[in-house]
Amino acid sequence: MLLPTIFLVAVAWGRLSLAARDPVHDGGCQCAAVDYADAGSYLVDANNDGNFSYASEFSGNCSDAAIASILKDPDDNEYDCTSISPSPGQSVQISECDIPYYDMKSGTWQIFIKLPSNITVTRTFFLTVGAASTVVTTVRTHLPSCP
Ligand SMILES: *[C@@H]1O[C@H](CO)[C@@H](O)[C@H](O)[C@H]1NC(C)=O
Ligand SMILES: *[C@@H]1O[C@H](CO)[C@@H](O)[C@H](O)[C@H]1NC(C)=O
Ligand SMILES: *[C@@H]1O[C@H](CO)[C@@H](O)[C@H](O)[C@H]1NC(C)=O
Repeated sequence: MLLPTIFLVAVAWGRLSLAARDPVHDGGCQCAAVDYADAGSYLVDANNDGNFSYASEFSGNCSDAAIASILKDPDDNEYDCTSISPSPGQSVQISECDIPYYDMKSGTWQIFIKLPSNITVTRTFFLTVGAASTVVTTVRTHLPSCP
């Protein structure tokens, strides 16, 4: 009676993928958040005058189509981010958004990423903005959040 077991595992896996909001895998392309993963909580240095940026990691068979994204602050203001392209051999891609860290405020932020398939992926995370002395480390989670 092996078959029913296999079926149940497949169904459970399908539900898990949906819950993780990982739409993914156009033509075998996998992706993951390197930082600012969905449901994460992070500290941001209020004295940093660089622009906010985030990283995504791609693997597998990815097309090199440009992927656009925007950042949304706790008040629903939107900021454009540079588009990324998961070209082969460059697995980690950085996207930079039009807001410096010192202009950011604590609260719930979101990144909306539009995949070439026109699926929009959302990463929702909580930021605490503080002075450098209080910012000790960047938490990295391994939650699947794509790309
Ligand atoms: C990679 O993806 C493209 C289009 O998405 C597809 O045509 C091609 O067969 C895939 N290659 C492999 C090795 O899976
Ligand atoms: C931040 O982004 C703006 C708009 O794209 C750009 O003009 C500025 O040079 C960037 N700042 C830094 C520190 O890269
Ligand atoms: C995605 O949307 C754009 C603009 O609406 C359209 O031109 C394009 O064909 C769509 N791509 C796919 C894969 O559906």
